[in-house]
Amino acid sequence: MNTATDDILRLERVSVRLRTASGTAQILRDVSFSVGRGEIVALAGESGSGKSTALLAVLRLLAPGAQTNGSILVDGQDIAPLRGRRLREFRARTARMVFQDPWRALHPMHSIGRQLVESARAADPSLSKDAARDLAGDTLARVGIPDPGARLRSYPHQVSGGQLQRVVIAMALVASPSLLLCDEPTTALDVTTQAQILELLQELNRDLGISIVLATHDLDVIADVADKLVVMYAGAVSEEGPTQQVMARPEHPYTWSLLQAAPGRHPGERLRAIEGRPPSPLAVITGCPFAPRCEHRRDVCDAAPLTPVPVSDLPGRHSSCVRVTAQSARSTERTSG
Ligand SMILES: Nc1ncnc2c1ncn2[C@@H]1O[C@H](COP(=O)(O)OP(=O)(O)OP(=O)(O)O)[C@@H](O)[C@H]1O
Ligand SMILES: [Mg+2]
Repeated sequence: MNTATDDILRLERVSVRLRTASGTAQILRDVSFSVGRGEIVALAGESGSGKSTALLAVLRLLAPGAQTNGSILVDGQDIAPLRGRRLREFRARTARMVFQDPWRALHPMHSIGRQLVESARAADPSLSKDAARDLAGDTLARVGIPDPGARLRSYPHQVSGGQLQRVVIAMALVASPSLLLCDEPTTALDVTTQAQILELLQELNRDLGISIVLATHDLDVIADVADKLVVMYAGAVSEEGPTQQVMARPEHPYTWSLLQAAPGRHPGERLRAIEGRPPSPLAVITGCPFAPRCEHRRDVCDAAPLTPVPVSDLPGRHSSCVRVTAQSARSTERTSG
C-alpha cells in the first residue's frame, strides 16, 4: 500500500456542496482515493456520478460558491491554502487537465505554436522564447504530430479532432507536470483515434513516469490502461481496487451493472442497460445510494456505509456494498475461528 509520500494525489473524504436555486446539491460525498507515483487511475461511473467535479476540485476550478470539505494533497502539498500566484503556478506546472473538448484549452485565434510557448513559459518563466519554441516542436513530435515545425504555425481549426487532442496533451506536457487529469479525453473521438490517444497516454506514463487520472463513463476504455479503478456512484466511491481484479470479480452490484452495460465486453450480445436513474444531487441519501436500482437489495442496505471498506479476503479491494463486506467479514471469522 502507498504511503503518503508515494502518492502524487490523495483525496481524503472530499465533499462538495453547491447552493442552487432548488436547494443545496451534494455533488461529492466523502470521496477518498489516491494515485500513486507513476500510476494510471481510472475514475468510472455513469453521467452525473461526480467524476468531473472530483477532477475540477483537484485544480480548485469548481464553480464559485462551491463548498469543499476534506483534504486534497498533491505531491504531499495541501492545495486548499493556495491563492494568487501560487495557485496559478500549481495549475501551470504541477497538475494539468485534458478535457473531452479540446476547445476548452485552445484559443481559436492563436497559433498552436504560440499557445504551446505560452504554456511552457507559464510553467517555467526562465525559458526563453526560442527555447520554449524548441520544446514545443519536440513535444508535438513526442505526441505523434507529423511535421511539427509546420504545425506550430497552424491554427487549431486547421487540424483534425484526434490531432487536436494530441495538441492539448502537448500543451500540458510542455509544462512537465507530475499529474495529468484527463476528463473523458477520448469520448468525442472515433474508435480508432480513441485507441491511439489511450496508447499515447500509456506511453507518456511509461516513458515519462507521469501519473494520470482518467475519468470515463466507458469501462471498455480503461480495461487495459488503468492500474487502479475507482468506481463512483451518486458522488461517492462505491468500489475500488486493481482494475483487472475489479473487472474480473466486481464486489459491488453497481460495478457489475456497469460492466454489463459496457458494449465492448459483450460483442454481439444485447446490452443490459442499468434500469432506473441515479439519485438527484438534491436528494437526501441514507444508506446505499444504489439500493433503489439494485436487484440484490435487502433491508440491511439502508445502513450501508457511504465510503468503501476493505473487502477482507481481497487485498487492495474496497467496496461500500454492505452485503459484500458482511459476507467477507463472515468468511474471515470462519477462517480465523
Ligand atoms: N455548477 C453546477 N451546478 C449544479 N449542479 C452541478 C454543477 N456542476 C455539476 N453539477 C451536478 O453534479 C453532479 C455531478 O456532475 P459531474 O459533472 O461531476 O458528473 P460526471 O460524472 O463528470 O458526469 P459526465 O459523465 O456526464 O461527465 C451532476 O448531477 C451535475 O448535474
Ligand atoms: Mg464529466
